[in-house]
Formats: sequence, structure tokens, C-alpha cells
Amino acid sequence: MIRFGVIGAGKIAQTFSTAMPHTHGILYAIASRNLDKALSYQEQYGYEKAYGSYEAMLSDPLVDCVYIATPHGLHYEHMMLALDYGKHILCEKSFTLNARQAKDVFDKAKSKHVFVMEAMWTKYLPVIQATKRLIDQGLIGNLLKMDVSFGFDAEHRRGSRLFDPAMGGGALLDIGVYVMTIATYFLGIPQSMDSTVMLDASNGFDLSEDIHLHYPKAHAHLRCSLSEKLDNICTLTGTQGTMEIIDFWRAEHAFIYDLNHQLIQEIHIPHPINGFEYQIQGVIDAITNHQTESTIVTHQATLEIMKLMDQLRASWGLKFPNE
Ligand SMILES: NC(=O)c1ccc[n+]([C@@H]2O[C@H](COP(=O)([O-])OP(=O)(O)OC[C@H]3O[C@@H](n4cnc5c(N)ncnc54)[C@H](OP(=O)(O)O)[C@@H]3O)[C@@H](O)[C@H]2O)c1
Repeated sequence: MIRFGVIGAGKIAQTFSTAMPHTHGILYAIASRNLDKALSYQEQYGYEKAYGSYEAMLSDPLVDCVYIATPHGLHYEHMMLALDYGKHILCEKSFTLNARQAKDVFDKAKSKHVFVMEAMWTKYLPVIQATKRLIDQGLIGNLLKMDVSFGFDAEHRRGSRLFDPAMGGGALLDIGVYVMTIATYFLGIPQSMDSTVMLDASNGFDLSEDIHLHYPKAHAHLRCSLSEKLDNICTLTGTQGTMEIIDFWRAEHAFIYDLNHQLIQEIHIPHPINGFEYQIQGVIDAITNHQTESTIVTHQATLEIMKLMDQLRASWGLKFPNE
């Protein structure tokens, strides 16, 4: 049985804590900078241990795997610390601020022979796995085009980590990472790309962007926004039909149409809990099998997406203060 310790008692830690009892893992410890907060999570979710500092939890030899649930600007520091203690790691997205940090983490994890994975839960969802299989089997023919968006109006959250450059704030690292992940999962690494961005230049973050990925025989149009609700659908157009994945990042529903737009297949797989259970069980299985890397969210995939996001930010003249 793998015992999990969570770093950071914030919002996403609640999603993780709710899903965990429905896997074969143990919700062992919660660590917050504030012991009272850790104690209240312990009471609410049934953790065995509560710690008032991250290092105190990492010193507990019974913690096998650490789930890092802090803002992305802190992931590098917290992963390096967890590796000093020889822990396996599941770290929230975006994995780090840039590709250089991601490579450092993977190199150190390799030298310690421990498992590390970006918590890109979307790739573990059965609807995503099923649609990927069908595409690979040629159900809609050769892929020609992808249109995908992820956006919501977060203006009321100004002042939060979402808009804090020191925390990796901005649309790209918060939600752009999802559209980049789904595009590269289905289409691979593009030959070239271009983009237009709406910057909040005085505050040093990106509010929204349109990204075009160019492939030899296909094209992908990706949109993400922290100021506007978008349709959040991933549409794949092939030579033999079309596929729509609704709310692709937390997908439970997909529709496949022929060239006459007649529905030929519907996939509907509701989450048993909130969808996090699939990636958590994936991590447990991988660690139990002595793997140091997931076969679904590979180190290479995380690194390549970080590199693409580095290129986009460089083209916009956007640098985080702490990189
Ligand atoms: N997979 C998903 O669907 C999903 C959804 C939302 C977010 N996320 C990712 O999860 C991570 C956390 O997001 P969240 O929405 O849970 O954030 P959050 O509610 O702000 O929680 C982050 C936690 O990090 C800890 N922390 C440590 N140092 C901090 C600092 N200097 N400033 C702020 N917090 C600090 C805090 O915990 P303590 O005070 O307890 O130490 C805080 O509660 C982000 O990387 C985000 O991209 C993923």
C-alpha cells in the first residue's frame, strides 16, 4: 500500500483528498504552513497525520509518495526538497515554471531512483484514453485539424495565485498547459507554431492567447483565457469524420460523427468521484511496479510541453520574476 503525503492544504488538495479513498492508496499525511489548517483537513478527510511544516512531513519515513499541491511557482522548490528526502512525487500542473527546471527535477529523480509525474489527470481519463485508441485505429481517418479551447472568467480572482507572476500566474501555465497537452497527445510535437496573446503587461502575465500549431498535414488552433468563458470542447476533424470531446480537460462525454455529421458513436463514462481517482491509481500501480515514470504522462511529454510554453513566453517577452 502506498502512503501519500500532501504538501499545501489548498483547493486542489481537497479534490485529491476526496478521490483518494476510492483508490488503493492511503491518505496518510497532510502538511500545511499552518498547523491548524492541516488539523482541519485531517478532521475533514481522515488523514492519519497532520503537520505544520512541509519538512516535518517529509521527515516522516512512512510517507511514500508526496502530492505537491502548491502554486506552480513553488513546484520546483518543493519537488527538489521532496527528492532530498527520497520521496516519490506526483506534482500538480504546470509541472515547473520552465523546461530547465523540469529537466533538473527529472535528472535528480533518476539519480534517486524515485517515481515522478506531472499530475496531468486529463490523460488518465477513460474518455480520453478511449478517444485516443479510436483515433489511432483510424475511426475518423487521418487527422487534419484540431480546435480546442479552455477558458473561464476569473477576473473576480485578481490578487490570487492565478494572476501572480511569482507563482507562475497567467493563462498559459494555468490552463494553456491543458490545450497544449491534448494537442500534442493527439497530434504530436508541431513543426512550428505562432500565436497572439493578450497581455496584462503592467502586471506581467498573460490573460488569454490563441495558439496555432502547424504539422506537415494538420493544423491545430488552441485558445485559452482567464477572462472569458470558452466552449471548452476539443474537436478533431479527420478525413473520415469528426470527434467532439466535451469539457475535454475533465472529459466524461465524447461524440463521433461521420462525414455527413451523423452520430456514429457516443462515449459516456461518468467519473466515479471527481476523475482524480484514475491518475492516483495510475501512480500507485506504477510505484508498485517499481517504475520511475508513468507510461501515460511521460517525462518526455512534460518536458516537451514545457519547452513549447517557454518558446511561447519568449515570443511574448514574458519572463517570471523567479526564473
Ligand atoms: N488538476 C486540476 O484540475 C487543478 C485545478 C486547480 C489547480 N491545480 C493546480 O494545483 C496547484 C495549486 O492550486 P490551488 O488552486 O489548489 O491553489 P491554492 O488553493 O492557492 O492552494 C495552494 C496552497 O499552496 C500552499 N502555499 C505554499 N506557499 C504558498 C505561497 N507562497 N502562496 C500561496 N500558497 C502557498 C498553501 O498551502 P498551506 O497554506 O496549507 O501551506 C496553499 O493553500 C496549482 O499548480 C494549480 O495549477 C490543478
